[in-house]
Amino acid sequence: MTKLGDGLSNALRMHVFVCINEREHDHPRGSCGSKESLVILGKLKSKARESGLNDVRVNKSGCLNRCESGPTCVVYPEGTWYSLPDDEEGLSSILKHLAVGNVSEEHVLVEE
Ligand code: FES
Repeated sequence: MTKLGDGLSNALRMHVFVCINEREHDHPRGSCGSKESLVILGKLKSKARESGLNDVRVNKSGCLNRCESGPTCVVYPEGTWYSLPDDEEGLSSILKHLAVGNVSEEHVLVEE
């Protein structure tokens, strides 16, 4: 019998979770959704697809509890946290991580 996770772990090399949680604009913690995270997610997903990264999945997530640093994402399996950029150069840098594993140091979230 094949376990459900077996096929997924073989098919996916990396999994990216992008927070799209949205709060009211005056909420003290802010939110990734109010910083256009859904639009950025769409760009990252398109770029990954265009680059043929079929073994990388980019998904929406709820709040990742790093709201103030958003738009936030986390890349597994290594657990690299990013504050996602919204410019071409920045997104290309994140994409390079997804393609060849080079962490985009300038966008990494540091421990709070
Ligand atoms: S709203 Fe995105 S990490 Fe909390």
